Amino acid sequence: MNDRFLSSQMLEEEQNLEGSLRPQRLAEYIGQERMKESLRVCIEAATRRSESLDHAIFYGPPGLGKTTIAHVIAREMGGNIRSTSGLVLAHAGDLAAILANLQERDVLFIDEIHRLPPAVEEALYPAMEDFQIDLVIGQGPSVRTMKLDLPPFTLIGATTKAGSLTSPLRERFGLVYRLDFYSPEDLQTIIIRSAGLLGVPIDTEAATEIAKRSRGTPRIANRLIKRARDFAEVKAQGLITQQVAQDALAWLGVDQAGFDEMDRKILLTIIEKFKGGPVGIEAVAAAVQEEKATLEDVYEPFLIQSGFLDRTARGRQATTRALEYFGKLNNLFSTGHQDQ
Ligand code: ADE
Repeated sequence: MNDRFLSSQMLEEEQNLEGSLRPQRLAEYIGQERMKESLRVCIEAATRRSESLDHAIFYGPPGLGKTTIAHVIAREMGGNIRSTSGLVLAHAGDLAAILANLQERDVLFIDEIHRLPPAVEEALYPAMEDFQIDLVIGQGPSVRTMKLDLPPFTLIGATTKAGSLTSPLRERFGLVYRLDFYSPEDLQTIIIRSAGLLGVPIDTEAATEIAKRSRGTPRIANRLIKRARDFAEVKAQGLITQQVAQDALAWLGVDQAGFDEMDRKILLTIIEKFKGGPVGIEAVAAAVQEEKATLEDVYEPFLIQSGFLDRTARGRQATTRALEYFGKLNNLFSTGHQDQ
């Protein structure tokens, strides 16, 4: 197998990973208790039977640890991980090249699995079900197919859009997990752990402050702690106290609710330009100059979960809480705004 060809299909392992901050083992992974408990049992059972773990799919908003858990599973199973994405696997042959190089108990991780082209997805079915792939050999009249046996491996899929999976693909996963936003308490634990790994002293109150403003998302918590460390080193002798955390968050443009500029822009556009809604997502996307899919997959889940935005049959609507937060409650009640 040509290594250059293979590597073009694989993601750079460290690409957008938080590197050394990611937990390596299940015992180090903080939060998502139900998922961990289920995985712990299934991994132990598979290990005792000397089998590979059943194929697993993880879904949920970005930054909640789908890639991290895939790495953790590979390590717990004692296999290697091969990472790729539904966006780069263009042909069934690309998939065959990766599958043919797997070893027993390896994990094949496919990020954005809902984006696999149909022909690649179909090639995946026999690989998942029977650990076999159909190789197409030759061209034209002499074309033949040959079955190739694969070692038992675990496919791990990740997606931000569970609803976009085809049912034949979804049904082939024995394990299905939804990752939830993390509680402020779990995020605080993650922040204290990360600060320890980064070697930066942090007060409990400072960790609470950053946790509250991390939008339920470990990737954001880790980004904020790294920037707070920069800020503390330059402005505060390297120690992150609550005041230093508050100043660092203000410097980063992260507000009390953890909103960044785009979150605020989305809510304020709905409130000011569309009288609080309901307004169609397309109109919001055009007004804030962002892709509809990015609004739906990246920004909305947290705004909805935290009670600032409602998704109604007639479109998006800012909640009373959002109006209150931006000091717009009185303006809008005079225009007849109602929460649904
Ligand atoms: N870093 C990112 N996500 C984490 C998690 N769930 N547990 C521990 N550290 C993390």
